[in-house]
Amino acid sequence: MNILIVGGGGREHAIAWKVAQSTVVKKIYVAPGNAGTQDEPKTENIAIDASDINQLLNFALNKQIDLTIIGPEVPLVAGIVDIFTEHDLLCFGPNAKAAQLEGSKAFTKDFLARHAIPTAAYAQFTAHQQETAIDYVKNYFLSHINSPVVIKADGLAAGKGVVITSNESEAIEVIKSMFSGQFGQASKQIVIEEFISGEEASFIVLIDGKHVLPLATSQDHKARDNGDKGPNTGGMGAYSPAPVVTDLLFEKIMNTIITPTIAGLNKDKISYKGFLYVGVMIDQRGTPKVLEFNCRLGDPETQPLLFRLKSDLVELCLATLEERLDQVEAIWSDQVALGVVLASKGYPDSYPKNDIIFGLENCTNNDAVKVFHAGTKSHNGHVLSNGGRVLCCTALGNTAQEAQTLAYQTVAKIHWEHAYYRTDIGYRAITRKTDE
Ligand code: AMP
Ligand code: GLY
Repeated sequence: MNILIVGGGGREHAIAWKVAQSTVVKKIYVAPGNAGTQDEPKTENIAIDASDINQLLNFALNKQIDLTIIGPEVPLVAGIVDIFTEHDLLCFGPNAKAAQLEGSKAFTKDFLARHAIPTAAYAQFTAHQQETAIDYVKNYFLSHINSPVVIKADGLAAGKGVVITSNESEAIEVIKSMFSGQFGQASKQIVIEEFISGEEASFIVLIDGKHVLPLATSQDHKARDNGDKGPNTGGMGAYSPAPVVTDLLFEKIMNTIITPTIAGLNKDKISYKGFLYVGVMIDQRGTPKVLEFNCRLGDPETQPLLFRLKSDLVELCLATLEERLDQVEAIWSDQVALGVVLASKGYPDSYPKNDIIFGLENCTNNDAVKVFHAGTKSHNGHVLSNGGRVLCCTALGNTAQEAQTLAYQTVAKIHWEHAYYRTDIGYRAITRKTDE
């Protein structure tokens, strides 16, 4: 098979690495890919942007691509699957209507409310309702002493559209700035949400429209700095499995979130095929609530997840498209996989690019360790930094502690001028183990 992978981050490097292991795959193209993807066997980067659907379509038709796998949300929300399908091309991921579960937070909150799926209390407002929105937060702070409020841009905002504010004046400022077009069209509508505290986990499933196949559990580290401090990012590290999701909690998430979501999609006549990523908050009482849906795999969750996956990813994608997920299994290594993101200093705001990355040649990629690339590019025989998140050093160990040690041993071999990373990835899993 000829495969096209769309995207150029760490998630797409992990997908390319995994797809290259499939015996049914002859050739892989990654658009646009990074310095890591081009080094994978059978794999070639092509210089097409992940959101340039027309060029991707022409490429897929010309190269007789048998299966296209979409990594990021932007092309999914823009309808790449619908367009490829119209041209009889197999394309893995939800169609535009289904991708609204990530593309519009207001749509998602209404979906959750309509189908009685647990989530934070909310209200939604459009730009001409600014005064009503301000009154809403004023009342919120009167009735929620010492509790922050969460303000979210409705549309895609590259992970920056969620602000947690702890007082009235801050909240009003955020509302005004969102409505004045801070995120363009994406913030012309907002969702204001009750703050829920607890522990987050990433619960990702495959859905084929009829059946569901849960992947292994995982946990991200969204804050930039150690101890979950600093601004929110796309994710600074992740591991799988997430011990916070006990067997009991797993059942609860399936029964109270996943099954009603699939029933709700069917009821609303939304045909969903692809990965569905549920950002779950487990509150103090152990009740899981939906924080968000994503219509794709998480980044960096994918790197440890796929490092643990023993099954053929291409077969899982085909089974999803052919509605036979009930006939396949996802087999996982019993070990813990943990990935540490190396970012550029300044991320998630502005950061320098084009630093030469040293030490990659000293990192052995094998069954226990793999350096996945994200924002990197090749230039004159060097690998240069080319994005906010640059690499993800991923390792397998018998325990979270072992995987963490091995991952950081690899991190220590790599350096560039503006490198930045957290030194505590996996701390929750490690602490939990010692507690028991
Ligand atoms: P979202 O993109 O909606 O998942 O929000 C990004 C991050 O903001 C989440 O991963 C949480 O850390 C935080 N967050 C979002 N909504 C809430 C909420 N209602 N209560 C507490 N934290 C939240
Ligand atoms: N790591 C969070 C996300 O992919 O949205």
